Amino acid sequence: MSENAFIEYDGKKLELETMIGSENEVGVDITQLRAKTGMITLDPGYGNTGSCTSDITYIDGNKGILRYRGYSIEELAEKSTFLESAFLTLYGHLPSQAELDAFEAPISADADLPQSMKDQIVAFPEGAPPMAVLSAMLNTLACHETDLLTIPHDGAEFDRAAGKIMAKSTTIAAAHYRATQGLPFIAPNPKLSYSGNFLNMMFGQSADTYEILPEVEAAIDLFFILHADHEQNCSTSTVRMVGSSRANLFSSVSAGVGALWGPLHGGANAAVIDMLENIHTNGIKLSDYVDAAKDKNNDTKLMGFGHRVYKSFDPRAKILKTQVDSVLAALNIDDPLLDIAKELEQVALNDEYFVSRNLYPNVDFYSGILLSAIGIPVSMFTVLFAIGRAPGWMANWREMLSHNQRICRPRQVYTGANLRSYVPVSER
Ligand code: ACO
Repeated sequence: MSENAFIEYDGKKLELETMIGSENEVGVDITQLRAKTGMITLDPGYGNTGSCTSDITYIDGNKGILRYRGYSIEELAEKSTFLESAFLTLYGHLPSQAELDAFEAPISADADLPQSMKDQIVAFPEGAPPMAVLSAMLNTLACHETDLLTIPHDGAEFDRAAGKIMAKSTTIAAAHYRATQGLPFIAPNPKLSYSGNFLNMMFGQSADTYEILPEVEAAIDLFFILHADHEQNCSTSTVRMVGSSRANLFSSVSAGVGALWGPLHGGANAAVIDMLENIHTNGIKLSDYVDAAKDKNNDTKLMGFGHRVYKSFDPRAKILKTQVDSVLAALNIDDPLLDIAKELEQVALNDEYFVSRNLYPNVDFYSGILLSAIGIPVSMFTVLFAIGRAPGWMANWREMLSHNQRICRPRQVYTGANLRSYVPVSER
């Protein structure tokens, strides 16, 4: 049996090569289709389009599998740290101790911001969305690192640029939060872990006093690990798309932040909290809310339930659920929203509508609850997602260039007017 595929159109038959991935996924190579037949493929939203080959992340949505570089998310969540998983995602192997030390050292040492960036952060208008600030400040960082704007996809320049983005993203996020609270900036402390330092810059009293609970530090580190990469999603594809024009790493990642900002992508965890607040403030009965979510004539959805890719369960949600319980216990939290969330989860998990449609809680259901319990403002949820996703974006940027990919330039099927003559305005 031939392993190739055939397409027949207008009396012509074309044989197309197939490519089989390391997990037996099959792709049909259509790169010669237009040259040989004049046709293009049409796939709005790219749901059936493989835009690249990649060695970074593997997902099987039917089986609930997520792996970074071949390692299961469950094992990484249990045994790794965010920086180690970031190294793995970026460079393809688990680091030796010496490699890990060399990777972590500049990230810890280089987290402070130039004074002018701190001044800019304070100067943003009241109410400035944190995602806009992060995106803008990543491009501002490019202005301070002009020697890193060439396109190194390998070697020391890439390492330095990637390290700076990881080092300074948390500081940008925390500095903006402090400014919105009218609180002074807390300098990064290189002796703290990546996640511990971030939390201290957010909530600490000074760089040297550290009072963050270990359960909270571990939970944020886990949150970052779980978000480190997720294949060719909207923001990662954006980073690849922008980088394919040979735009620098800072601008490409900044564009990824923009793509992640949207409520259909990174914004869902905030929508979960909005939903819980709506139920709480308006005293809505949970059974009524669930009925509304099931009603096809009603736009209500159970936010944090369902997933485009995961159809049995979202492995990240399973992992995060356990962490949420331990953080809530450590913080001795008594928040009515969390009680509503737990009840809602039980109602939905036992409802035939949700069970028969494979609608389980996704990572956003628990991450919203977790971040809220830790005291992260809802407006910053997506910023934390972006910080966690940065290694995946940069690994994809690097891989795309190492494959020497052509500039991304999709085609279209034109459906507009045919040629017509210009009519002067006086005659229209
Ligand atoms: N609440 C109620 N009904 C739902 C929900 C939900 N959250 N999600 C899906 N359904 C229903 C649909 O109405 C549809 O019903 P039908 O078969 O009777 O027509 C069925 O379940 C299948 O839904 P689809 O829309 O085909 O599922 P799809 O895979 O396209 O959508 C999505 C996935 C967008 C995540 C959807 O489940 C949703 O909107 N969930 C709520 C938002 C959310 O939590 N998003 C975060 C996703 S995780 C992430 O992005 C990191």
